[in-house]
Amino acid sequence: MNDSLLLNQAQSFLWQYGKENGLSKETIYTRQCAIKKEIESTGTYTHTIEEITFGAKLAWRNSAKCIGRLFWETLDVFDARDVKSQEDVARHIHHHIQHATNDGKIRSTITIFPAISSPQKVQLWSHQLIRYAGYQDQSGEILGDPASIELTRVAKSLGWQGEGTPYDILPVIFQWNEEPPCMVAISNEEVLEVQIDHPVNLDWKSLDLRWYAVPIISDRYLEIGGLLYPAPFNGWYMETEIAARNLVDSYRYNRLRDVANQLKLDTSSTTTFWRDRALVELQYAVYASFKKAGVQMVDHYTAAQQFQTFREKEEKQQREVKGDWTWLIPPVSPALTPIFHQGISNEELSPNFVKQKRPKLFKKISEMTESSRPTGCPFHS
Ligand code: ARG
Repeated sequence: MNDSLLLNQAQSFLWQYGKENGLSKETIYTRQCAIKKEIESTGTYTHTIEEITFGAKLAWRNSAKCIGRLFWETLDVFDARDVKSQEDVARHIHHHIQHATNDGKIRSTITIFPAISSPQKVQLWSHQLIRYAGYQDQSGEILGDPASIELTRVAKSLGWQGEGTPYDILPVIFQWNEEPPCMVAISNEEVLEVQIDHPVNLDWKSLDLRWYAVPIISDRYLEIGGLLYPAPFNGWYMETEIAARNLVDSYRYNRLRDVANQLKLDTSSTTTFWRDRALVELQYAVYASFKKAGVQMVDHYTAAQQFQTFREKEEKQQREVKGDWTWLIPPVSPALTPIFHQGISNEELSPNFVKQKRPKLFKKISEMTESSRPTGCPFHS
């Protein structure tokens, strides 16, 4: 990035940071001058802990696709900019999972690794820190999560071996500087999972439906004032993410027909509305199972209500909430929530979470056979 663009972005973040935190004009100005000097002599600059903490919260507040933004101020921020080795990175990953999970009382958490302009770099290849593997055999048959097939291939060519169940937990894959990618094993013990049962139709065990408790997105950059940080972050689930998408999409676990059969619905025609009826029962089952297990989850009615409150609060501060309507409406009964009936303008504000480019090595490794696997790919426990 050229220096003057970076300086512009740095200064506009600083201005927002200062204004929202009641800093005097002189203080903001002094800090802006210091940043300018740092950029002129090093090509980049360093956020203070206060700046990066606030910046991460703003990135959440600005996330146009997120319905859960009412809680943006409660984000727990861990500064991991001082990692010196692969082991340090692995430690932070385990720490994030443990802190966020908190025995089911989920804490919104972000762990911030060094900016990509720093000499010590982490590149996270995993989409989420916790994710189920997906295997496709010669005949095209798929076991597990189809969304993970490519990453599972990468893990296997790096030497990982799954058990071959539909819910094998993938290791986290990351690259440290220019070294070959390495993996962090995520054990079953550190991952809280919920078995899905139906509170009334009690015979759901044989369906073998489950999901993990915490979605920790790890393949986006946190962008603050022109700096890009690899930074896994999480909130808690809304039931539709699991019960209308992950377990249901035809290109994911695709289990709706099994659920309908369990409910003994007539699946001979779509006009019996078996798909819609099974879908609603699955929302109920997933939500009830999470609650029963003591794992935090929000339903789409409460989430939509919270989003309304968030908009009102922001408007009181003279800030217009931006949003991506197509993402904000829930995939189940959208018109029963107020969000469906309102307009919202979509614009990407900064700070934010931005797309990360596919690492160059990724595709190459996913296409390798196990015998041609790169050597020197450490496995961290
Ligand atoms: N939809 C994604 C999943 O099902 C998670 C995205 C983030 N969700 C959240 N509630 N913070 O895994």
